[in-house]
Amino acid sequence: MVERLEFDMTLYPAPVLRKPAEPVTAFDEELAEIVRAMFERMDKSNGVGLAAPQVGLKKRILILNHSGDPRDNLVLINPELISRSGPQIYFDEGCLSFPGIYVEVRRPERVRVKALDASGKPFEAEYDGLISRIIQHEYDHLEGILLVDRMTPADKHRNRAALDNLVERHRRESEKAESAQ
Ligand code: NI
Repeated sequence: MVERLEFDMTLYPAPVLRKPAEPVTAFDEELAEIVRAMFERMDKSNGVGLAAPQVGLKKRILILNHSGDPRDNLVLINPELISRSGPQIYFDEGCLSFPGIYVEVRRPERVRVKALDASGKPFEAEYDGLISRIIQHEYDHLEGILLVDRMTPADKHRNRAALDNLVERHRRESEKAESAQ
């Protein structure tokens, strides 16, 4: 039996969000539990996608569900974006690590992905629309790239107060953690 996990959301600017995630090598019960607990966290936070660094894990795992129907749950382990194609599209993106912040981000319409599923079985598929958008956003997380990096100077200006609040909150919580040691 593996220990039951419960994840908190890791918020900007926690350092783990900046670290490139490492490939998964064991497709075992522990991985299955991580994936289960990630879906639980994503659902509770009303998200459509989540990458492992957002729950504090430096692992190349991303999950998504674009519809809210559990049959649309998608797990990508060690994903590779083989190609991106189609027109560049602007779309309002949020991120569970940046609560309350939304930014129009330009990305190609389609993405072709190679990945492993939670059992380690390889698959390859092409996605467009919201699924493609979520995959590209979550893949950024595995590389340590964040929504704030996709902001224009005007976006940053508009979201200055919200970003400053997150930084301040992180500073206070780090201090609290240090003084508790
Ligand atoms: Ni995100």
